[in-house]
Amino acid sequence: MSRLNELLQQAGNIGRNEDGSITRLGFSEGYFQALELLKARMKEIGMQVETDPVGNLHGILPGSDPEAKAIVIGSHLDTVIKGGVYDGMLGVTGAMEVAARLKDEGRTLRHPLEIWGFNMEESSILGGTFGSRCVTGMIDPDLPGYPEKLAKFDCSPEKVKAAKRDISKYECYLEYHIEQGDKLDHTGIDVGVVSGIVSIIDYKVTAKGMSNHAGTTMMANRKDALVGMAKLIVAAEERAKELNDTLVFTVGKISVSPGQENVIPGQAVANFEMRHMDKAVTDQFYADIQALAKEIPNCEFEFVNTIAKYSTPCDPRLIKLIDGVCTEKGISHVIMPSGAGHDANPMAHEGVPIGMIFVPSVKGISHQGDEYTKPEHIDMGADVLYQTVLKLDETGV
Ligand code: GLV
Ligand code: MN
Ligand code: MN
Repeated sequence: MSRLNELLQQAGNIGRNEDGSITRLGFSEGYFQALELLKARMKEIGMQVETDPVGNLHGILPGSDPEAKAIVIGSHLDTVIKGGVYDGMLGVTGAMEVAARLKDEGRTLRHPLEIWGFNMEESSILGGTFGSRCVTGMIDPDLPGYPEKLAKFDCSPEKVKAAKRDISKYECYLEYHIEQGDKLDHTGIDVGVVSGIVSIIDYKVTAKGMSNHAGTTMMANRKDALVGMAKLIVAAEERAKELNDTLVFTVGKISVSPGQENVIPGQAVANFEMRHMDKAVTDQFYADIQALAKEIPNCEFEFVNTIAKYSTPCDPRLIKLIDGVCTEKGISHVIMPSGAGHDANPMAHEGVPIGMIFVPSVKGISHQGDEYTKPEHIDMGADVLYQTVLKLDETGV
């Protein structure tokens, strides 16, 4: 097994569940255990390391030119609940392989190389891509209710503000990631050169009906909020399929109240997440859902937007560079969009040129324990990343 695959599997054992999946949520004990493992390894490679106030890991390999801006490679160290080994961790360990290889080959880059391992990229009450949005200053931590949410993780508005960096100081941001879909695996293509990252838009939807006795309230007289919510979800799913081929819609979280077996739910709350590259499509879909909600009897619906991360293209120069590296190496590759969100998104929104490299996810499985990428693809993607960094060091973006 290669050094990179070994480190990846070692990190994957942190937060491992009995069923083989991994739960290493942002700010958890496992999260910081993984961070310390990588920190120790970075020190062995000769990197300067630091954990910032919101729990992001930063490693620096100094360059030879004091004027040159740093090349940043990053991804996240957290997983979803019952997630896999590769989502996020591949990007950070892959970046460390680049640094280790530079050391093996006795090369010093002209640019400093920074490796950033982000906290809480996965969705949470803090809104996902938390660590990278702190670094880029995209979070207003004083918004009503946010300080209380931060406090749940022993974090604070002061820490969020202190984690912000002057993002203009960085040359570019690269992220190496598994595809998490099945396009590469299905077509047998080895590498994806990412063209852009989709929007992620989320609404908290509340259905209000009326709570009542489950035994004495006849079916004709009910105002069951969960039934209303279920009808809206099914109608929205149908609409999503009609509206656009690449629009995706998910309800990943739902709760009812009061939440007892013998009480008709008076209220149901669900999150409606929609993703597409084009804002016009998600705007249209949201308008359609609101219209559908008006037709559902016995329920009132309320919509509150909780997440609006708009799509972003990758930098055309970096796409060309990565594409060129793959061509030179004879690696089959395709330029493709990302349906998953990434820490690269906030970096791009704050003006840093971004480039992303994907390797195949077997059967397109991700965000669960069976997530798997072949070891040879892990090493191949890391080599593309290494060659990309060497070229960037010569030419800049
Ligand atoms: C992140 O993994 C996302 O796409 O939700
Ligand atoms: Mn990820
Ligand atoms: Mn993920």
